[in-house]
Amino acid sequence: MSADHSAPPIASLERIAAAHWQAADQAALGEWLLRADGGFTGRANSALPVGDPGMPLVEAVDRIGQWYLHRGLPPMIVIPGPLASAAQPPDPLDTLLAARGWRVRSGPAVVMTAQTGAVAGRGQGADRTPGATGVPVTLASRPDAAWLARYHYRGMAELPASARRLLQSAPWQAFASVEDGGQTIAVGRVSVAAGWAGITAIDVAPEHRRRGLGTALTRALAAEAAGRGAGRVFLQVEEGNVAARALYERCGFATVHRYHYRVAPVPGAPS
Ligand SMILES: CC(C)(COP(=O)(O)OP(=O)(O)OC[C@H]1O[C@@H](n2cnc3c(N)ncnc32)[C@H](O)[C@@H]1OP(=O)(O)O)[C@@H](O)C(=O)NCCC(=O)NCCS
Repeated sequence: MSADHSAPPIASLERIAAAHWQAADQAALGEWLLRADGGFTGRANSALPVGDPGMPLVEAVDRIGQWYLHRGLPPMIVIPGPLASAAQPPDPLDTLLAARGWRVRSGPAVVMTAQTGAVAGRGQGADRTPGATGVPVTLASRPDAAWLARYHYRGMAELPASARRLLQSAPWQAFASVEDGGQTIAVGRVSVAAGWAGITAIDVAPEHRRRGLGTALTRALAAEAAGRGAGRVFLQVEEGNVAARALYERCGFATVHRYHYRVAPVPGAPS
C-alpha cells in the first residue's frame, strides 16, 4: 500500500469531509460540530470532536448526550485517529467515553485520499483494467429513483426519505450510473467542497461485480471532480470492506487515518 505523505492533518480532513455530507440539523459546541439527521448514517448523526469544545471534556460529553436525547437519537461521537500502525498515545476523549460505558459501534472505517487527476487518469495504457474498457457512465446533478433504488447503504434494502436531501447536501455533487438493458446496475456519487472531492455511495449490483464497473465509476467520478477544480479526493470505507479497499487502492488511493464511533449506553439497560 502506498503512503500519502501529503495528506492534511486528521482534523482538517475530518472538517473537509463534514462539508460533503451535511446533516439537516447541525450545531456548534465550541469548535466541535453536532449533527443529526433522523439516524441515517453515522456521519450525519454524530458529534465531530475536532478542535476545542470550549469547556472541559466531561461537560462537553454531557452536553452532547442531552443534545441527541432531546432529538430522540442515541448520543454518538466519532473518534478519528491515526492508523493502528502509527505510534499513538490514547485519545483522552475515547478513554473517557470507554470509562463511561460508551460502546464502539460496529464497522470502524478508514479514510483514503488520492490526487483526482491520478485516479481519473489511471488505466490509460498498460495499467488499464480490461473489464472497465468502454463502460458507459452517465452523470446527473440529482439522484433519480433508479439511482436511489440501486444504492444500498450498509446493505439497507431501502433508503429513508431523508437520504435524498443528505445526498445533495454538499455545495456541489454529481451522481453516476451504469445501465444495462434499461436497468441501473451500478451507482456512485462525487461531491466537491472545501477544494476537495469526496467519493461516496459506490454500489455495484452483486451479479455485475468484478467486471470493472466499480473502477469505471471511481475514475469517472474523479474525472468529473477534477474538471470542477478539485485536486484531491477522499473517501471513507469500512476497515473490513476488503473488496472496496482493494478497488480504491488499485485506483491510486492511500489509507491516511481511521475512525470509529462511540455510542452512549442506553439509560436503564444492563451494561
Ligand atoms: C466494492 C465494489 C464497489 C467493487 O465493485 P466492482 O465493480 O466489483 O469492482 P471492479 O470490478 O472494478 O474491481 C476492481 C478491482 O478491485 C478489487 N476487487 C473488487 N472486488 C473484490 C473482491 N470481492 N475481493 C478482492 N478484491 C476485489 C480487485 O483488485 C479488482 O480487480 P480484478 O477483478 O481485476 O481482480 C462492489 O463489490 C460493491 O458494490 N460492494 C458493495 C458496496 C460497497 O461496499 N461499496 C463501497 C462502499 S465505500
